[in-house]
Amino acid sequence: MKKVITYGTYDLLHQGHINLLRRAKELGDYLIVGVTSDSFDRGRGKLNVRNNVLERVEAVKRTGYADEIIIEDYLGQKIDDIQKYDVDIFAIGSDWEGKFDYLNEYCKVIYLPRTEGVSSTMLRAESQEVFRIGIVGSGRIAKRFVPEAKVVSGVEIVSVYNTNNIGAEDFAKSFEINAYSDCYEDFLKSVDAVYVASPHLTHYDYTRRALLAGKHVLCEIPFTLSSAQAKELYDIADKKGLVLLEASKTAFCPSFNHLVTLVKSGIIGDVMDIKASLSKMVSAPTRELSADEAGGAMNEHASLNLMAIIRLLGKDVKKVNFYSKIEDGVDVYTKVNMEYGHATSSATLGIGVKTEGNLVVSGTKGYIYVPAPWWLTDYFEIRYEDQRKNKKYFYSYDGDGLRYEIQEFVSMIVNGRKSSYKLRRSESIAIANIIEKFNKKEKLTIL
Ligand code: CTP
Repeated sequence: MKKVITYGTYDLLHQGHINLLRRAKELGDYLIVGVTSDSFDRGRGKLNVRNNVLERVEAVKRTGYADEIIIEDYLGQKIDDIQKYDVDIFAIGSDWEGKFDYLNEYCKVIYLPRTEGVSSTMLRAESQEVFRIGIVGSGRIAKRFVPEAKVVSGVEIVSVYNTNNIGAEDFAKSFEINAYSDCYEDFLKSVDAVYVASPHLTHYDYTRRALLAGKHVLCEIPFTLSSAQAKELYDIADKKGLVLLEASKTAFCPSFNHLVTLVKSGIIGDVMDIKASLSKMVSAPTRELSADEAGGAMNEHASLNLMAIIRLLGKDVKKVNFYSKIEDGVDVYTKVNMEYGHATSSATLGIGVKTEGNLVVSGTKGYIYVPAPWWLTDYFEIRYEDQRKNKKYFYSYDGDGLRYEIQEFVSMIVNGRKSSYKLRRSESIAIANIIEKFNKKEKLTIL
């Protein structure tokens, strides 16, 4: 019996898939079809797949060509499968020409003609409403946002707003964005959603006005510098039925989310302590060193670190203490100690003090170590007293990582989800509350 194997995502099953499966089946007597798992697709950066794995398996089954369907869940699995199932032919569409020649060592590799003019990507684009996003601000982070948005389907950057019209025009030109404006009201009229990437102190006002104008908002960190403002904005979003999401990028990336689920499943026992650090040296003149622009290590870096602590230990912080080194009115170094009653945590933040930016989550059975820079990580380790039990986990962290928050933002809009379990509104308010305490100099020791 001649066995043939082929693989694919088979999202929104189309004629190209059906032709391919028929041709693959005709190559032998028995066809095995490998359908990618949802996590495997996410892990290789395919974030937009519409049908879940069960639906995709069902669709392949309905073609009637597959004698057996298996799930593809890891890189390198094809070699295992070919040997395990004693496969004679590996077949795949000609868009992969040459890419699987390495399998010739295990079986015959055949590239079948691809059906022109149809693909899942095309079907997804055709059937999806495209949300017009406008960017508020044209600084460093806004520049990273544009290429990241391009890899997420269902969004198009249509305009950029800056109080300085020349800055907006330059930005629009360099990123081939059609429109730009220095009038916020006009800008808002041309978009469905807004990405706020302006200076810290303007986040509240731009977000509020966008929400009142009926626009969904993705707002950069620090979201707001007061919990009352954060709450007010979420209340407006709620009343208006809009999505408002704090763009805490690490909160939405695959590695961090898996870390949270592992911790919550008790893999390191009860969490007793978390240490999160982030330092990035800056030199004047820069916004980060300007007291008038809410600079400083805390305003600059606390959001991501507090996000990690709050997602793992919760928002019911019993006591907070700050220790800072202040220069020209801004903290170039701050250590935040947070006590939970049942656990402790600290965030060490610097813009004029350098430290290793790692994350350590200590539990009663073991600890998780995320190497620096922990907020961009694609890797972490779980370590135990008995080192033979240690485990390393690897993930993809594609591009600048903003694609994960954009994907979550769009998915919330499309599915009418007002809160994200990856960063709940109440957690976002709790983060703003701690930043506010610092800015009010509550429990602050100056070093
Ligand atoms: N395929 C094909 N003709 C097409 C589309 C896909 O022959 N027009 C083949 C691919 O070469 C592969 C199999 O179908 O062997 C499954 O491909 P998959 O990646 O699931 O389909 P695409 O439509 O290419 O998906 P996407 O657009 O998400 O990449």
